[in-house]
Amino acid sequence: MSISVVGHNAVVEQPVNPQDRARSLSAMSPERATSYSIRQRLASRYHAFWFRLGQGLAWSRGIYRERASGQLDQLSGVVRERIERLQQRFDVRFEESARQLTALKQYDYLDILEQAWSGMRLPRSRGGVVQDIGSSNFWYAPVLHTFFRPAELLGIEVEGHRIYLNGYSRLDYAQGYIHSLPNAQFIVGDYAYYERPADIVTAWYPFVTPDPVLAWRLPLSLFTPHALFSRIARNLQPHGRFVMINQGRNEATIAASLCRKVGLARQGSCEVTTPLRPRRPPVLSVWGHAQR
Ligand SMILES: C[S@@+](CC[C@H](N)C(=O)[O-])C[C@H]1O[C@@H](n2cnc3c(N)ncnc32)[C@H](O)[C@@H]1O
Repeated sequence: MSISVVGHNAVVEQPVNPQDRARSLSAMSPERATSYSIRQRLASRYHAFWFRLGQGLAWSRGIYRERASGQLDQLSGVVRERIERLQQRFDVRFEESARQLTALKQYDYLDILEQAWSGMRLPRSRGGVVQDIGSSNFWYAPVLHTFFRPAELLGIEVEGHRIYLNGYSRLDYAQGYIHSLPNAQFIVGDYAYYERPADIVTAWYPFVTPDPVLAWRLPLSLFTPHALFSRIARNLQPHGRFVMINQGRNEATIAASLCRKVGLARQGSCEVTTPLRPRRPPVLSVWGHAQR
């Protein structure tokens, strides 16, 4: 198995340790360990076909650059005010390089980080290697860059070759989003097999139950939460932090138990009850290695 890496238009292949892979596979084959319904199995097989096809084709139409909206229109007074506060605090204008919807989503993620961090009263980490797990097309790379000011930013996405209706792939979009960010990379691969130390690992809405995996049109063979969380714990430096955002308290509780099982301890947690965009209140939690 190999992992494709894209950053500043460079593509390289990173070999994955075969022993590691074999260990992970034998330890956690979810279809073997979990009993799924017939509906889930059929859906999983269907998604597996398209997933494998996408992987095999690894199609690219070239870098995709969004047309910048330049300014934000039709916002309510409250939303505009909150966005202006973020713009001042972080000295950013996402709309100068993204269309309106993307820029609003980016302010929303930045607001979640900002609100949660102030709520938890944790010092803000800066610099170092930041790895983001399950980055989709990495549309929020500018947010992570703004908030963490990393020396290196990596987005790792297992389905980076998914193709959109316009013929561009996630990877093509990701190249556009990281284009102007120094030392940013988009990596197509399974994080469970990605071996590299990190100062900060972020995961926005990781899968902790099987149904969202199917809803995202992925096969259940990719649902290996224990493997994923073990890898986070192994990659995290001794002083490192894992920043996780979950959809609501129930998911946060399931995810917290996965963190504890791999030896992580919670340093803080915050439910963001007034997100910028209407949604179930996200729960952000910060984890480090448990003291022995
Ligand atoms: C719920 S989506 C969240 C996407 C993105 N973080 C966001 O906030 O828009 C979860 C993402 O994780 C990816 N993913 C799931 N398992 C993964 C793994 N083991 N390694 C890398 N990416 C993974 C999925 O393909 C999907 O894009």
